Amino acid sequence: MNEITHQDAQRAAMLLMASIKSAAFYPQAHPAVRQPLEELNSIFNDMVRVKPEIHLGVVEGVFFLEGNLFVSPNSSVAELAERLIDKGIFAITLFGGVTSDDLFLFASLLARKNFPAELVFEELSRKGVTTIKYGIDEVQDGCAAEEGGASPLRTYHDALDAIRGTMKDIERGRIPASERINEVVDNMVSLTIKDHTTMLGLAMIKDYDNYTFNHSVNVGILAVALAAYLGMDREALRDTNTAGLLHDIGKIRIEKSILNKPGKLSGDEYEEMKKHAEKGAEIVREMENIHSRVTDAVLGHHIRYNRSGYPEWARKRDFDQLADILAVADCYDAITTLRTYNSPVPPRAALDVLRRISGTSLKGDLVEKFEEMMGKYPVGTLVRLDTNEIALVVKPHPQESAEAAVKIIIDAQGTTLEKPRLVSLAPQDGSRYATIVTQVDPLLKNIDVSRYFLM
Ligand SMILES: [Fe+2]
Ligand SMILES: [Fe+2]
Repeated sequence: MNEITHQDAQRAAMLLMASIKSAAFYPQAHPAVRQPLEELNSIFNDMVRVKPEIHLGVVEGVFFLEGNLFVSPNSSVAELAERLIDKGIFAITLFGGVTSDDLFLFASLLARKNFPAELVFEELSRKGVTTIKYGIDEVQDGCAAEEGGASPLRTYHDALDAIRGTMKDIERGRIPASERINEVVDNMVSLTIKDHTTMLGLAMIKDYDNYTFNHSVNVGILAVALAAYLGMDREALRDTNTAGLLHDIGKIRIEKSILNKPGKLSGDEYEEMKKHAEKGAEIVREMENIHSRVTDAVLGHHIRYNRSGYPEWARKRDFDQLADILAVADCYDAITTLRTYNSPVPPRAALDVLRRISGTSLKGDLVEKFEEMMGKYPVGTLVRLDTNEIALVVKPHPQESAEAAVKIIIDAQGTTLEKPRLVSLAPQDGSRYATIVTQVDPLLKNIDVSRYFLM
């Protein structure tokens, strides 16, 4: 094996699911367990020869193994994704030296009912298994949470779950519970206060099959980062973050055929789509422990700075700055998200678009602050370093663009690295690893930028 192909990844996922099913009924020595387990072990051991750490898990309902995403999975991979989601396991790292015994224990723990992630990994470590770990260290690198606090990646997934839960409540005709959202907001605000750029890298995770979920979380992240950069207090940050997460919640009450229509909407369909802002405000108004300014911001997130937006009946109303902050975050995420019918726009170009509509659709000073916060080379920008390496910006440093953290993807000889290398460009002991020379077009290098945020 020279690289981990989609086929290898699929085979491994199917074998893992087969092992889980058999481990529920049979002992390790039984052929129904032994056979898939041995093949799985041999595949994983081949993989760790290609790459010392193998990452797999679920991103917004989509199973992934390394760079392979299973957007339309076969039934067995779909079952595995469901099982992992059910247990609250979103990312797993496998290390070299993994054995059939380790995998059997893991499969049998995944087979147990009512046995969540914490217990699975507690049990693995109690039994001395060190080759299977929860999470992906690298994503948390440089932005790990303080002891006791939730990590950025964990918080991202919790936010996706909270939005999914809120939508489920609405579909079942209930007033959505606000506890989950409030808990996620607490964590996100704490992380943001510590360093407002912490979560920006995660806001580059795009998923066009589940656009509304990821978009909502991304807007929550971008909005709260901007609010923190503006120096707003904790209460205001909470409201901004909540409004970001919930801003498009009204889409649940828009007909699916209109919501998912791939082409241009007809006049009537567009009128219907526009109602998501007021429908969203109606939902949020009913939720407990959510401030009325959040409701207002949801209502006004498409009203536009010059009041040429919708709902038309609300154009004369007063909206506070929160609606304007949401609009900036909403636009930025929409522009940078890869959609099937238009090509992805790199962050720098997305900022150019924001500038063009600044003063009309968007509030000018907020766009300026947003740009300042994102830095000269925003997170998600592909750059060339003066070492001739190609790297992805994963953490910006406002104003001082040279202090960004980057992941090196292609070395100076032009070889794509199997495992991207995270380096800080901040000066250390008077010298620095490298400086950014220029931006590079990801299309020219044929690089799918978003997958590198999970590697
Ligand atoms: Fe919207
Ligand atoms: Fe939106």
